Amino acid sequence: MKVLFVCLGNICRSPLAEGIFRTLSEKAGLNWEIDSAGTAGYHVGESPHRLSQKTAKSYGVDISAQKCRQFMATDMDYFDKIYCMDTDNYNEVKRISGNKWNAAKTALLLDALYPGQNKSVPDPWYGEEPGYHEVYHLIEQACDKILEKVKSEE
Ligand code: 4NP
Repeated sequence: MKVLFVCLGNICRSPLAEGIFRTLSEKAGLNWEIDSAGTAGYHVGESPHRLSQKTAKSYGVDISAQKCRQFMATDMDYFDKIYCMDTDNYNEVKRISGNKWNAAKTALLLDALYPGQNKSVPDPWYGEEPGYHEVYHLIEQACDKILEKVKSEE
């Protein structure tokens, strides 16, 4: 399985999701390919935000080697599952994908916890350090839920 996480900048939320999901899937013995991308290109080539790196490290997850990249239409073909952090980015993924758009592959990450409620992972970019911890826990719960479902279907 190849799994992609998408947010706006690919420096705060989706790098956390990539790191958390990679760590949890490896612990579960799954050899899956995990990546993340942003719908915007503001930070391409940059490392994850200092506070995302610091927060992840405090829970034993190292995201320091990640580099920001922008989501592209070919990602829709390549990945099996694409999890978006919010509804704006879900709509951007749809727009950028053009005729490659596949609704069956694409979901809001928080649908794993709150099905059908269209909930978004809040953007910690404008806030302080505690916001990064809140987002970390929310993403971790959703990733846990996704992997629980995978295990129950094995
Ligand atoms: P992210 O947060 O989408 O979680 O990576 C943001 C990062 C950067 C910006 C906005 C959101 N920005 O406007 O540069």
